[in-house]
Amino acid sequence: MAVLSLLLAVQGVLILLQFQVSLGSWEEWWTYDGISGPNYWGLLNPEWSLCNMGHRQSPVDIDPSKLLFDPHLRPLHVEKERINGIITNTGHGIVFKANSSTKASAVHINSGPLSYDYRVAEVHLHFGSTEKFGSEHTVAGQTFPAEVQILGYNADLYKNISEAVTKSQGIVGIALLIQMGVETNLEFRLLTSQLNKVLYKGQQAVLNSFSVRELLPDTHFYTTYEGSLTMPGCHETVTWLVMNKPIYITKQQLYALKQSMQGERDNPKAPLVNNFRPTQATHHRLLRTNIDFNRHKNQQCPTMYKNMFYKANTGNPGLQ
Ligand SMILES: *[C@@H]1O[C@H](CO)[C@@H](O)[C@H](O)[C@H]1NC(C)=O
Ligand SMILES: *[C@@H]1O[C@H](CO)[C@@H](O)[C@H](O)[C@H]1NC(C)=O
Repeated sequence: MAVLSLLLAVQGVLILLQFQVSLGSWEEWWTYDGISGPNYWGLLNPEWSLCNMGHRQSPVDIDPSKLLFDPHLRPLHVEKERINGIITNTGHGIVFKANSSTKASAVHINSGPLSYDYRVAEVHLHFGSTEKFGSEHTVAGQTFPAEVQILGYNADLYKNISEAVTKSQGIVGIALLIQMGVETNLEFRLLTSQLNKVLYKGQQAVLNSFSVRELLPDTHFYTTYEGSLTMPGCHETVTWLVMNKPIYITKQQLYALKQSMQGERDNPKAPLVNNFRPTQATHHRLLRTNIDFNRHKNQQCPTMYKNMFYKANTGNPGLQ
């Protein structure tokens, strides 16, 4: 056991907190609310200081009036291979990890704004306790019930995601905003079909023949910016692409997600809902898009949430 001392400034008052934590597990000691929540991640561990100090943090709000059309952005290329892996309840979220063996089939992502070739390593799910919020990225301040994030590592320069995550141009993140719908994407159904096996922290289930490309919405329009991981250590190594159409989740799937718990079976703690970080300041970063507002009058970003299948929510993204 080690004593972890924390000096926190809470509403102007300094409080010294001491925790008994077992070595090795204390890196896991962060949450999405309270004194171990997003506002304090940077104070919990010196290696996570970017969470509080960084100026290129994620997620961000995508403000359509501030997007810059970049005619040099190419369509994103995502290979159509199906991959095998394991879905895990990490206590912080539901995460699919692809088999990282060099012999296993892999999905590569390149083109778009990317200068390197990236290999898909993980898919993360973020979701809320109600349909009003749950996404990390927002559009014009609008939150969504959930968000899928596909993370790949730079396979030209690095050996695996843990090496790439701290390195320059290490990671690509593709964010898919999720909206309520009656019909869902088949691959998303595959992902959620295993949820009853990973209700508690540490539980795992095999998920084979999963297609990342089929998970994507039917659009080649996106917004891209340079940001960070949305969980500790908030490394500023991620090129984000936020696709300009949602995918859909049914009420039943959202209900299944909301059954997941933060703790282990014998101590389930609280439901694993609201595992999203609030949006971060852009600090003058460029948000570039391949949507030509003048040419695609019907495709321009502000119509994204006015689409008849695409009802805007009014939740407060900062609400925990
Ligand atoms: C990963 O893929 C390799 C090559 O196909 C296979 O030998 C190995 O058993 C797989 N690992 C897991 C954990 O499924
Ligand atoms: C990732 O790659 C680094 C550098 O080659 C290596 O030291 C590390 O053990 C690898 N980690 C995993 C989880 O495979």
